[in-house]
Amino acid sequence: MRDILPDEAARWRAVENVVHQVMQIFNYREIRTPVLEQTELFARSIGELTDIVSKEMYTFVDRSGDSVTLKPEGTASALRAYIQNNLAEQGLLTKLYYLGPMFRQERPQAGRLRQFHQFGAEALGAMAPELDVEMMLIPLMIYRNLGVVQTGLLINSVGCPRCRPPYRELLRSELRKIRAQLSVDSQSRIEQNPFRVLDSKDESDRKATRSMPLMKDHLCAECSAHFVRVQELLKNLKISFEIDGHLVRGLDYYTKTAFEITSRDLGSQNALAGGGRYDLLVEELGGKPTPGVGFAAGMERLMMVLEKQNIAAPGAAGPKVFLIGIDRRSRTWAFETVCALRARGIPSETDYLERSVKAQLREADRQHAEFVLVIGEEELTTGTGKLKEMKTGKEQAISLGTFAKTFS
Ligand code: HAM
Repeated sequence: MRDILPDEAARWRAVENVVHQVMQIFNYREIRTPVLEQTELFARSIGELTDIVSKEMYTFVDRSGDSVTLKPEGTASALRAYIQNNLAEQGLLTKLYYLGPMFRQERPQAGRLRQFHQFGAEALGAMAPELDVEMMLIPLMIYRNLGVVQTGLLINSVGCPRCRPPYRELLRSELRKIRAQLSVDSQSRIEQNPFRVLDSKDESDRKATRSMPLMKDHLCAECSAHFVRVQELLKNLKISFEIDGHLVRGLDYYTKTAFEITSRDLGSQNALAGGGRYDLLVEELGGKPTPGVGFAAGMERLMMVLEKQNIAAPGAAGPKVFLIGIDRRSRTWAFETVCALRARGIPSETDYLERSVKAQLREADRQHAEFVLVIGEEELTTGTGKLKEMKTGKEQAISLGTFAKTFS
C-alpha cells in the first residue's frame, strides 16, 4: 500500500478529470459505494474458487460478529447498490461508473499493489453487443486523450451456462492427458477450475496448453453470434483487436465477452484494464434477471505507462501570486491581501515564518508562483508597488489600495 504524495496526487487528479470527462461523454453516472461490504457478496459474485476470494481478500469479523471485506473490485458493490436501491426503476438501461481504492492481498510487485485504484463502468439492462464494445471504447478513449500509445485489445468469449459445461468436460479430459507437463498450481486446477489453466502465466503451462480446445471454438449459437457481432462492430469502428482464446480472467462471473487492454510498457502484469459481460450476476445477487457488462482499469498501471511514455500529466499549479512583506506592517498587509485574493478565488500565498526577503523570493520560486509582490514601508507609504512576473522578470506598477479587488 502506498502513499500518493502531493506532486503525484496532482497528476492523479489530472488523470481522474479525464476519466470523469470521458464517462460523461459516454453518458455514465457516478456511483460511490462503501469501502467495506459483507464478505458473502464477493464470495457469491467473484467466485469461491478464484484466487481473489480464496487467497487475497482482506476479510475480518467486525464487532457485531459480521464477516466483512475491503472491496477487492467494484462490480459486485455497484450491482449490490443497483439492486438494493432499485436503480432499475429509473430506466431500462442503467449506466454507472466509479473510481476508488480496491484491496487485494497479492504478492506485491511492479504494477501490483495491495491497495490499488480502479476506474470502471457497468451497464445494466441490455444484451446488446454494442455495449460490450462501448466498454472497450471508454478506456481506449481515456488512454488516447491522455496521449498513451500502443495499447493492445484482446478479446475472447467465455460462453454461457449452455455451452460451458460440455466444453469444461472436454477441456478437463484433455488437460488430464497432459497433466505431467503442467505446473503444480495448474495440476491442482484441472478438476476445480480448468479454465484458469489456460491463462496461466507459467511458460511451461503456456507451451503445454497451446493445442488445447478453446471455448471460442465450442460456443452455442447465441454466444457465437454475439461474439461475431462484437468483432464486426470493432472492425467497422476500425479498432484493432486480437482474439485470444486463452483469455479467461480471474473472476468467475463472466459470460460471453471477456476482454483486456494491455500495454507493452508494463512488465508481466501487463493488463491496463479488463472487463466483460456478466448476464447472470444480477440475478445471482438477488436482483431480477438483468444482463450486464463492464470494465475496470488500474490507475497505478496507467500512471506507470504515462511515466514510461514520458507523458507529462500536468503537475500541481503553484500560487498565482506570492506576497512578500518586509516588516511587521507590510506582513500584515500581505496576509490580509492574500485573504482578500483567496476570497475572490485566486490561489495566493504569503510567508508565515518571518523569513528574509531573499528567502521569501526563493520560496516563491520553489513553489512556482507566477507573480510576486514585495511590500515594505516605502510601498505602504506611497500606496504603490511593483508586481513582478517570475517567468519574464517584467515589472508592472500597481496600486496597493485596489490590488486585491482588481488582480486577475
Ligand atoms: P480485474 O481484471 O481484476 O477486473 O481488474 C481490472 C484492472 O485493475 C486490472 O487490469 C489492473 O489494471 C487493475 N488491478 C487489478 N489488481 C491490481 C493490483 N493488485 N494492483 C494494481 N492494479 C490492479 C475487475 O476488477 C473487474 N471488476 C472488471 C469488470 C468490471 N468486469 C466487469 N465489470
